[in-house]
Amino acid sequence: MQRKKLIAGNWKLNMNKAETQAFLEEFNQINKSNNTEAMIIPPFTSLETAKENRKTNQLKLGAQNLSQYKSGAYTGEISAEMLIESGVEAVLIGHSERREIFLENNSIINAKITRAFEAGLTVIFCCGESETIRNEGRTDEWVAQQLRSALENNIANNLSEKFIIAYEPIWAIGTGKTCDSQEANRVIKFLRQELNSLIGNNAENVRILYGGSVKASTASELAAQSDIDGALVGGASLKASDFNAIIEGFQLICK
Ligand code: PGA
Repeated sequence: MQRKKLIAGNWKLNMNKAETQAFLEEFNQINKSNNTEAMIIPPFTSLETAKENRKTNQLKLGAQNLSQYKSGAYTGEISAEMLIESGVEAVLIGHSERREIFLENNSIINAKITRAFEAGLTVIFCCGESETIRNEGRTDEWVAQQLRSALENNIANNLSEKFIIAYEPIWAIGTGKTCDSQEANRVIKFLRQELNSLIGNNAENVRILYGGSVKASTASELAAQSDIDGALVGGASLKASDFNAIIEGFQLICK
């Protein structure tokens, strides 16, 4: 099964409307890729600007978070339907910054995934181990547990189309320490086996990305690995030229 590579840029708490517009003016000019999928994931307030200025056939739009609730007295929350209205097709759930700083546990993450599926959004589910867990040799068991918990009660959904996994070792996020590409590939292979035990052959259609200090200079090495279906990029997605260079790094592999 040939899975289309996806490069998604998680802008985190960066990029106001003017910066979003400037990014897209440049990106629209320079991006020529046609066999990789690209996505930007701006902050909520820049979504409309991104929606209006992107070329829809060139760039998908994601959101960084959503509420597990549909509507009602939940101050500060944004619903899946509100995101869809702003052009959003996919949502990040389970990012380590949400888990660690905003105390989102596995049960909140599971509820958010359920809500996103209900509304028809694609889920980009993030999982990954801390440095301590890795040093204790517990990486595989840790990510498997995160995956199982994310999918509890969600197995019946059409996972192959609407589910994407991003394996992001926490110690590699924003640190400049990229995980060795063969090791990233090994964990990703393991995750696919685990997924297979949960959803059977549909696991073959689910894309599994790598994230953690991805940059242009490491993109083609990651892309050359057998099981890495793309990248979730933070810091290096904030400049159109850097982001485009990563897309090109993956593009070279999928001729
Ligand atoms: P980074 O972030 O590329 O800056 O390490 C990745 C992420 O948090 O998704």
